[in-house]
Amino acid sequence: MRRVQVGIVGAGPAGLLLAHLLHRIGVETLVLEAKSRAYLETSPHRIRAGVLEWGTKEILLAAGLGERMEREGLEHRGVYLAFDGALHRVDFPTLAGGRSIWVYGQQYAVRDMIRLHLERGGEILFEHEVLGVEEPERNPVLVYRTPEGRTERVQTEFAVGADGSHSALRGLIPGARVHRRTYPFAWLGILAETRPAAEELIYASHPRGFALFSMRSPTLARNYLQVGPEERLEDWPEARIWEELALRLDGVAEVRPGPLLEKSLTPMRALVVEPMQHGRFFLIGDAAHVVPPTGAKGMNMAVADAVALFRALRAFYLEKDPTFLGSFTEEALRHVWQAEFFSYWMTTLLHTHEDPFAEGLRLAQLRHLGESPHLLSFLAENYVGLHTTGRWAETLKALA
Ligand code: PHB
Repeated sequence: MRRVQVGIVGAGPAGLLLAHLLHRIGVETLVLEAKSRAYLETSPHRIRAGVLEWGTKEILLAAGLGERMEREGLEHRGVYLAFDGALHRVDFPTLAGGRSIWVYGQQYAVRDMIRLHLERGGEILFEHEVLGVEEPERNPVLVYRTPEGRTERVQTEFAVGADGSHSALRGLIPGARVHRRTYPFAWLGILAETRPAAEELIYASHPRGFALFSMRSPTLARNYLQVGPEERLEDWPEARIWEELALRLDGVAEVRPGPLLEKSLTPMRALVVEPMQHGRFFLIGDAAHVVPPTGAKGMNMAVADAVALFRALRAFYLEKDPTFLGSFTEEALRHVWQAEFFSYWMTTLLHTHEDPFAEGLRLAQLRHLGESPHLLSFLAENYVGLHTTGRWAETLKALA
């Protein structure tokens, strides 16, 4: 049977970053991915949030994966909140210690990671579906199907489930609890060839519902509308979408309709798996936790998990120190719950609620936020990311 030190299931941001970091320190990895490379790089179903926290950008740069992001991504030094017919700017450098964020589509980041990992001698097997993991606790063996339909096995020292929000591997952790929340909203998202409504993102809270005006480039707008969880795409012809976006922007900025490249519905839910490990098996990224998209935290959490597990495996392989592996869940759940909390807070704050009491509370907080630099700092610090701990810096140093 083939052997590898770390077997990773899933070529998304979490799995690819972990593989890449381990490869850099000489730990041998194999990434198994059920989908094709073309699907991962181009499928419209995979157009995810494009916001990279400060710490995420730093890690990608330190890992040698951020060159194109630096060239083609957009640095944003703030976002706007729109409510009561006015724009309120949240200035990140002033409110959050000089830091900013980068707008760069997740799909682009994945494309860069795949290309660079392969160029540097890493191995990713696309269209190889993992069917199960035998003996995950002591001696994990990944069982997978090749594109030709053969069933094969690889013996690993550690196995990692990074297989996304519909993870098939979650069940491998006996007694794991899955904490869930369903939000009573969905997002109707469009990608359109047009100039974005503003140079920075606008989070607009309007009596008709929430709307977000984001972008992928100066000529590609990415916009979203809060809709009910039961709504169907057929009910939203192009003209109605543009009309609704304009109404919710309420004269504070201009919406310029343009050709639609994509249209999708995203349900809003949250999920946290606890613990995230069992013996020699670990879960990272969306496989372990899901957030609603409002805070744009999903990919950033995947990166933070990959960094935490990398640190633990690095200590194990290079320093023969297994303690960080033992405390992986505890460490990861800190940033996971922080991001769950912020996503919950942003979602609750910006979406209109049916219950008038909830709506009254929401508007009170939103209006206070608009007047208070203290409250805005809370938003800004969470938005650019809270990776100010010594551990993050240690990892960056180790990669330098
Ligand atoms: C996006 O650009 O797709 C995006 C940006 C910010 C969010 C969510 C999605 O909070």
